[in-house]
Amino acid sequence: MKPLGVQINNLRLKSPLMTASGTSGHGDGTAVLSNSSRIISSLGAFVTKGVTLDRREGNLEPRIVETRAGIINSIGLQNNGVEVFVKKELPEFLNVDLPIIVNIAANTVDEFSMLASYLSDNDPGQIIRGIEINVSCPNIKKGGIAFGIDPLQVERIVKTVKKRVDSRIVVITKLTPNVTDITLPARAAIEGGTDALSMINTLRGMAIDIDTGKPLLGNKSGGLSGPAIKPIGVFMVYECFEKIPECNSREVPIIGIGGISSWQDALEYIMAGATAVGIGTAWFVNPDIFNRIYNGIKKFINNREETISDLIGKAHKG
Ligand SMILES: Cc1cc2nc3c(=O)[nH]c(=O)nc-3n(C[C@H](O)[C@H](O)[C@H](O)COP(=O)(O)O)c2cc1C
Repeated sequence: MKPLGVQINNLRLKSPLMTASGTSGHGDGTAVLSNSSRIISSLGAFVTKGVTLDRREGNLEPRIVETRAGIINSIGLQNNGVEVFVKKELPEFLNVDLPIIVNIAANTVDEFSMLASYLSDNDPGQIIRGIEINVSCPNIKKGGIAFGIDPLQVERIVKTVKKRVDSRIVVITKLTPNVTDITLPARAAIEGGTDALSMINTLRGMAIDIDTGKPLLGNKSGGLSGPAIKPIGVFMVYECFEKIPECNSREVPIIGIGGISSWQDALEYIMAGATAVGIGTAWFVNPDIFNRIYNGIKKFINNREETISDLIGKAHKG
């Protein structure tokens, strides 16, 4: 049996599979994990839902609408705020034998800075192994335009977060696909000192109820995820691996996310250049998805000469 372990900077993962942020909760997500050793043994890391400095109620309901090839969500980063997260939700992960990566979101660079410091300074059990910066949130100082589409802002946020967190914590920058050229924010994150990149977050979308003539989501628009976005994610991973030397050398590894619902999908991302992959929407459909994908990849590799490492970026070779 060939091992499926991969390396994300100084973080060793026993499997290339991770949860995608927001699709498996915070502390409450551990209820799912503690009930299933199958999930734990298939995963390499658990990524929490986005945490913000203060409590957020989230957007108007309905917050999720189904479409033919995925879902559109506008949860609005509902969460209890970082203090409650650290006191009540984070300790629940103590019994989970997986590296925990905390996804963070904020509306200003200063908020990102405070959030990162708070998490790093208030984790005596050293549960947090990584911080994933969600740069898709609106910059309120710039009229609500998402940070992630402005490379300068991305660089500033990453620099600030890197400065604030303990060096044992891996910093991952999660990129938005709502840009023309994904390599620009990717390069900016690398300039800011990110340890890894994850891509993609959801694409902006909308659905309309033709009976009422009104948008179906309370927030009108939201983020599209699921099978529809997979070819976009695969292309963006491919572009970064192809054009950015730090990605190509895996000095800054890529975590591929978006529309993965089978082991074949996961392998496409890996061959495009991803070292690990995140799975979100598919978990809503199939609670056994991680196990299935893990076993599928294992079987594929065991039937070949190649190791998991040989497959990373294979689509670029020759
Ligand atoms: C209900 C829901 C909530 C999400 N919340 C977050 C979040 O808090 N932070 C974040 O960075 N991404 C969030 N995402 C985006 C996912 O992590 C992922 O990038 C996206 O859904 C694409 O992957 P998928 O097609 O496998 O779901 C959320 C997605 C969904 C569907």
